Amino acid sequence: MTMNSKLMVGNWKMNGSLAANASLLSDTLSGLGGVSCRAAVCVPAPYLAQAHSLLTGSSMALGAQDVSAHESGAYTGEVSANMLRDFAVRYVIVGHSERRQYHGETDAVVATKAQRALAAGITPIVCVGESLAEREAGQTEVVVKRQLAAVIHANGHCISEIVVAYEPIWAIGTGLTATPEQAQAVHAVLRAQLQAATAHADRVSILYGGSMNAANAASLLAQPDVDGGLIGGASLKAPDFVSMLKAASR
Ligand code: 13P
Repeated sequence: MTMNSKLMVGNWKMNGSLAANASLLSDTLSGLGGVSCRAAVCVPAPYLAQAHSLLTGSSMALGAQDVSAHESGAYTGEVSANMLRDFAVRYVIVGHSERRQYHGETDAVVATKAQRALAAGITPIVCVGESLAEREAGQTEVVVKRQLAAVIHANGHCISEIVVAYEPIWAIGTGLTATPEQAQAVHAVLRAQLQAATAHADRVSILYGGSMNAANAASLLAQPDVDGGLIGGASLKAPDFVSMLKAASR
């Protein structure tokens, strides 16, 4: 359990348009009365400027969905941590399973990305999680520990500055949520691994992600080591996202 308030982060993935973002953010911001948890939205890179301007002065922080492992230079298509900082980005997702799967990101690349973010003063949200085959083979613990170990190894004493997101791949976008007990079991493993690496493991928020929605958020968030959520589909609907922010504020 962390000493922080819960952290709820929307991951829009590759969704949105100037018009849709404006109404989603305005509807979300107008529902924030009584919300006391920490909240952020991770938007597609082209919309960082728009979201930055719409979120300025609100309690909702801005996040990005990826960052380059390189600092600057001849890396066509990449976005650097310093560029994100120009838009007051507070959080960046690194190592999302969709990037590991479709873009070949290795544990080492993910660890470097986390390093780049930290060096720029941005909190990396490091995603870990097993596939269905790995879970069925009893490999869940081994897989998530291997993924987190790479980031711990590369980031040393800064490790208490990261956020971790446990996202079982079989639960992402499937409507199949991990049970609160399944989530808690993995979160406890990750917490113990962080405790072995830093005296400040209680500062690290460990988020759950994977079909979290307005109906199941409260029971997941009630687990002692579930410090918040990383929310895909449900973050695209303002009433659902607001209701989850409220569940995280109790
Ligand atoms: P869903 O909430 O759509 O399952 O996505 C979870 C996720 O991948 C968030 O990063």
